[in-house]
Amino acid sequence: MPDNEILVRPLSIEDAADFNHVVGVVARERRYLRFTDAPPMESTVEFLEKSLGSGNPHLVAVAAGKLVGWCDVCRHSFEIEAHVGTLGIGLLPEFRGKGIGKALLDMTIAAAERLDFHRIELTAFSDNLRALALYETRGFVREGVLRMAARFGDEYRDIVQMARLDPELANRDRRIA
Ligand SMILES: CC(C)(COP(=O)(O)OP(=O)(O)OC[C@H]1O[C@@H](n2cnc3c(N)ncnc32)[C@H](O)[C@@H]1OP(=O)(O)O)[C@@H](O)C(=O)NCCC(=O)NCCS
Repeated sequence: MPDNEILVRPLSIEDAADFNHVVGVVARERRYLRFTDAPPMESTVEFLEKSLGSGNPHLVAVAAGKLVGWCDVCRHSFEIEAHVGTLGIGLLPEFRGKGIGKALLDMTIAAAERLDFHRIELTAFSDNLRALALYETRGFVREGVLRMAARFGDEYRDIVQMARLDPELANRDRRIA
C-alpha cells in the first residue's frame, strides 16, 4: 500500500491504546468533543470489549500503519431504544479536510444499517461547521439546539442534536402526539 493511502477497517481490541491516544488528542483540543481528555486506558479497554462484544460497528482509519481516526455507533441499552445508536467520529488534526471523515462516516453508517440501527443520533457543537456540513450531506437532520449546554471556562457553547433515520423507514407513519 502506498504511504499516502488511507485504509478504513474494523477496529480490534489490539487497537485500544492507539484509539485511546487519538481520542485523547482530539479531546484535548477542547473544541470538538464533550469530554476534554481520553478516559483511562482500563476504561477504554472495558468500553471496547463490551461494545465490540455486543456487535457495535467501530471503524478506524489507518495511514502508513498508524491509526489516525475512528468512527463508531453505540447501541442504546433500553429495549425500546435498541434500534437507536449514538455516533462518534474524530481524526487527528493533520488528517482532516482530505475526505477521510466522509469515507469513515459512509462505511460506518452502512455497517450500522446492516446491523438494524434505524436511527443514528449524534451531537455537535454549533460552531463545528465542518462536522455539521458533513453530517447534513449524509442525511442527518438538525432536531434541536441545547443552548449553553457546554461551558469551556468563560465561554458557553450550544450543542446541536442531529439524527439520521434509515431512509427506508423514515417516512413510515409514527405516533407523534
Ligand atoms: C469532523 C471530521 C470527522 C470530518 O472529517 P474530514 O475528513 O475533516 O472531512 P472531509 O474532508 O471528509 O469533508 C467532508 C465534508 O465536510 C465539509 N467541509 C470540509 N471542510 C470544511 C470546512 N472547513 N468548513 C465547512 N465544511 C467543510 C464538506 O461538506 C466536505 O464535503 P465535500 O468535500 O464533498 O465538500 C474531522 O474534521 C474531525 O475529526 N474534526 C475534529 C473532531 C470532530 O469535530 N468530531 C466530530 C464531533 S461532532
